[in-house]
Amino acid sequence: MRSLRTAPAAVSLLVSLALLAAAVLAAPLEPRLAHKHRSLASAAVSASNVSDAAMPAGNVSDAALRAVSAKRINARFGRDKLVRGVNLGGWFLLEAWETPHVFLTSDIERQQLSDEWAWMGAKGARAKPDLVAHYNSYYTEQDFAEMAQAGLNTVRIPLPFWTFVPTVSPEPYLVNRQRAALRRALGWSLKHGLDVVLDLHALPGNINGQDNGGRLGQQDWAKDPKNLDRSIAALQNMVELYVNNASYGGVVKAIQVANEPRINAQLSLPFLGAYHKRALAAVRNAVSPTALVRPTTMFSDAFQDVTKYNYMFPQGDFPPQQLVVDKHFYFVKQWDRSLPDNDEELLRHVCAIGPRLRKAHAVRPVVVGEFSLGRTTRCVDYHDCKGRTIAHDLPSLNSKSNNLFMRRFAEAQLATYEQAGGWIMWTWKTDAAAAWSYQAARNQGWLPSDVSDPTQRLYTPAPGSATDQRCVSEQPSRAPRFAMQS
Ligand SMILES: *[C@@H]1O[C@H](CO)[C@@H](O)[C@H](O)[C@H]1NC(C)=O
Ligand SMILES: *[C@@H]1O[C@H](CO)[C@@H](O)[C@H](O)[C@H]1NC(C)=O
Ligand SMILES: *[C@@H]1O[C@H](CO)[C@@H](O)[C@H](O)[C@H]1NC(C)=O
Repeated sequence: MRSLRTAPAAVSLLVSLALLAAAVLAAPLEPRLAHKHRSLASAAVSASNVSDAAMPAGNVSDAALRAVSAKRINARFGRDKLVRGVNLGGWFLLEAWETPHVFLTSDIERQQLSDEWAWMGAKGARAKPDLVAHYNSYYTEQDFAEMAQAGLNTVRIPLPFWTFVPTVSPEPYLVNRQRAALRRALGWSLKHGLDVVLDLHALPGNINGQDNGGRLGQQDWAKDPKNLDRSIAALQNMVELYVNNASYGGVVKAIQVANEPRINAQLSLPFLGAYHKRALAAVRNAVSPTALVRPTTMFSDAFQDVTKYNYMFPQGDFPPQQLVVDKHFYFVKQWDRSLPDNDEELLRHVCAIGPRLRKAHAVRPVVVGEFSLGRTTRCVDYHDCKGRTIAHDLPSLNSKSNNLFMRRFAEAQLATYEQAGGWIMWTWKTDAAAAWSYQAARNQGWLPSDVSDPTQRLYTPAPGSATDQRCVSEQPSRAPRFAMQS
């Protein structure tokens, strides 16, 4: 997610000073697995022959599940089947707007914090237990079961670097403690038939200056070669832990090497390209020959136009079968003043993207790894939605005409992105921002209850029909039903 409002300068400064003074000590990191592939001693292990010694207790180890998912294949993520997924935002990387309940606790509420860096400092001794409690409770197996019922087939899991490599002073983050919940997430994904994108969302030094990079207003990633080394080490550890371990049944289908790098004076495209090249090699080399699945490497396009992809990912360095490009679309007026206000014009604007995506996708796979149904920043600026819930936010979008628009807007986006490799909505759930929550949008009827069922696309002309040149029709094939009626 991009473009949140900047923190009040005074608050940032105070927090930074406090943190500099605090010089937090990082927890020791699990040693990088010394006995690589120990559990898979016999070479060329096949799906059904993986030693049970490698399996954890509980449902994850269920042999039937393994047999289904575990094939030693190239994942070909974004190419073999349409990706229909959700991001698991706000879980392992805090974003104030998604989880105001984490930022507006009575102890820190008045500080109006904007990111995890500030949150860690403000929470002090409470940071660790509260964050671990959040990891353990924010998502449950029920969420994954519901995603599967919704016809989704993919989760993209945004992860910060401190899940995988130690912090250095003055980075205040909680190292390593995300992993227990992440292991459960992988088990639930496997059980419920969801492919996983492990997404290195926050990089050392912050690659985009956003809160989702850890610290709002900091974009120092490219300034220090150590940040690049640590990013690569984080990717290698990610692969080692979750790709090479057969216990996860090959559920990880893609590894994303950075999220939304921001191209500006702090970061040039050639510099980013050099990192991309290094990251592709690092990910591929880290995959063990006995890994059940060789994941696809996923690259953010850094908000560049599709016409730049041949320049960013030249085929000599980036063989198209090894990668997938991640493109994000947000139609939020406050972020892009050139967007049409008029509903019909906005839908035409969305639909016009389809053919361009299709063309780019024909050269190398493209997946729209983030989008939402939000048109404004209401509740995205969490200060405005203090104590609010989805039930509070829905009425602001609940007119008869807007409900119909939201369904068309959703179907237009899906139809557009399905002309390429598919889509992953931002995000599965939020405290209050209904238009940014797949769960809320589905419950309301803005999204089909089973998105994999073509008969539930009410505004999507059938292929070959008279209107199939348009991605979304004016009238529905039957009347959509909305949970909250105006
Ligand atoms: C599993 O291993 C047995 C012998 O250990 C072998 O006969 C069998 O073909 C293997 N199965 C697969 C699917 O490779
Ligand atoms: C593989 O993952 C399982 C489940 O998390 C864990 O119990 C096991 O120790 C891991 N194996 C290795 C070699 O790290
Ligand atoms: C396995 O799954 C079942 C049903 O989903 C659940 O009742 C049981 O507690 C799970 N067992 C473990 C060890 O997670």
